[in-house]
Amino acid sequence: MIDQSYPNMTPVVIDFVSGKTAYRRKYGHSGGEAISRAVGIKKGHRPHIVDATAGLGRDAFVLATLGCQVHMIERSEVVAGWLDDALCRAMHDKKIGALITEKLSLTCGDSRAALLYVPFEPEVIYLDPMFPHREKSALVKKDMRMLQAIVGADDDADELFNVALSVAIQRVVVKRPAYAGFLADRNPQASIKTKKHRFDIYLVRAVRHV
Ligand SMILES: C[S@@+](CC[C@H](N)C(=O)[O-])C[C@H]1O[C@@H](n2cnc3c(N)ncnc32)[C@H](O)[C@@H]1O
Repeated sequence: MIDQSYPNMTPVVIDFVSGKTAYRRKYGHSGGEAISRAVGIKKGHRPHIVDATAGLGRDAFVLATLGCQVHMIERSEVVAGWLDDALCRAMHDKKIGALITEKLSLTCGDSRAALLYVPFEPEVIYLDPMFPHREKSALVKKDMRMLQAIVGADDDADELFNVALSVAIQRVVVKRPAYAGFLADRNPQASIKTKKHRFDIYLVRAVRHV
């Protein structure tokens, strides 16, 4: 049945090889520097990251292209299916096949439990829970609106955040819209701001000893 509440929506296809995501890989990503600083990338240090709210895999892909090992977890079977399909296609691409095979992996499941069984020690846990979008203008938002229509609101994000704080080895990074409050009303140790977003950084040692 066609959902008439989204008449202008086109099917979502995640494409790491061509299109917008590939463009970011080749020519840089406006938030690339910010996300890189937020997860603690330094010369000679590429943290192992679990993206516990994988969604369309855009942030995970940027982090993988920056050299990090990234394990994605997505609980929506529909969205995880899109991601799996995108990974399978990209693995066979001449240019990025090796990067995808070496750096990106995926689990379909709820991170509140799945975080306990990731394939490596998660130095950094990255969270970008769904936040109701205010504006509908830019075309780039279409996929996100579609995603929101499918997965709904992530009302349990605070709970996921607490699990992440107890599992991460170094830090938890939370991506928020610039206008949004802190997740779980918890002040981060630092924030990195871009025009539209904010990356809130929670150093787990500092948090665990509060
Ligand atoms: C805003 S989207 C993330 C977008 C992503 N950062 C990107 O770059 O495409 C949030 C996603 O997190 C997923 N999610 C939320 N809570 C989750 C949980 N506890 N476990 C696994 N996935 C979760 C939602 O299903 C949704 O697909």
